[in-house]
Amino acid sequence: MTDLEELEQEILGAVAAAEDERGLEAVRLGALGKKGWISERMKSLGTMSPEERKEAGPALNGLKDRVTRALEAQRGILREAALEERLRTERVDVTLPARPESFGTIHPVTQVMEEVIAIFGDMGFSVAEGPHIETDWYNFGALNIPPEHPARQEHDTFYLREKEDGSRMVLRTHTSPVQIRTMEGTKPPIRIIAPGRTFRSDSDQTHTPMFHQVEGLVIDETASLANLKGTLEAFCKAFFEVDEVKMRFRPSYFPFTEPSMEVDIGCSWEGGELKIGVGDSWLEILGSGMVHPNVIRAGGLDPDKVQGFAFGMGIDRIAMLKYGIPDLRAFFEADLRWLRHYGFSSVAMPSLAEGLTT
Ligand code: PHE
Repeated sequence: MTDLEELEQEILGAVAAAEDERGLEAVRLGALGKKGWISERMKSLGTMSPEERKEAGPALNGLKDRVTRALEAQRGILREAALEERLRTERVDVTLPARPESFGTIHPVTQVMEEVIAIFGDMGFSVAEGPHIETDWYNFGALNIPPEHPARQEHDTFYLREKEDGSRMVLRTHTSPVQIRTMEGTKPPIRIIAPGRTFRSDSDQTHTPMFHQVEGLVIDETASLANLKGTLEAFCKAFFEVDEVKMRFRPSYFPFTEPSMEVDIGCSWEGGELKIGVGDSWLEILGSGMVHPNVIRAGGLDPDKVQGFAFGMGIDRIAMLKYGIPDLRAFFEADLRWLRHYGFSSVAMPSLAEGLTT
């Protein structure tokens, strides 16, 4: 074996034995780098006689080509193997749960709001909103409650500091101002619900200074008391997830509706547990009525052309009833133990198709 053949075998052996790209690069430098074996020999061509060079030149070039190709081939093999190894070790099992445990829960008020929106949304209602800080006009005046009206006393209103012109803003005492704001901005037919925060200076087991209501408003040319009753009955059945629900419409008084009715639902206590829908006891759940002509007028519409009904319901209250939560104050204490107990899964959105409370 010639000297060159021996060298070639040695280099090709080192190429094949290289275990990674760094090792292979070391072999390449040893052979073809500036001071590599082959490069050194190439340099010595200059010192040879023309005859010697004629023979050694092609032999060296052939060797260089074969070594270069062997290096290329081995590099391809090593890259492929490195990729395989990464794919094997970095594989992610996408079927595993995202976290070992989920911690956060949805507050019952949020849950019930979503349920209410799902039910009325299905009936064709859209969601409207209004500000928490209201003018006297939207909270009272436009709703047919003039300054000296006794109904103002019942609202335990939080007033803001007097402005320069002597007027005072209020924290809205109910969601009814959204009725006016909606009528102002929408051409009938109107079908909205307005869930949100409301404020009254009141606190005991069933009252907190901040609480939640959902307002309902329907205005068109024919909306009737029968429609009001049908709508509320459909809502109660869907919300309490029962086939039958006994309802009682009690004559009442609100300045902004005429006639006005308070609505009770039938219930019973079975073994200490409240059952909604049937029974000889009654629970009041909302106020309602046909929108007063003065209110329609205040909303910028003509009471001779359009009419409708409205209702207002306590969200916290129906949440307590549906989920058997005894004390309203606990709703707003941010006690983690309470939230874990009464909270809902954050991945299950209430919908009529999938069930309100899966
Ligand atoms: N705004 C009334 C309340 O807070 C409820 C209500 C709304 C009654 C709409 C009738 C019509 O008590």
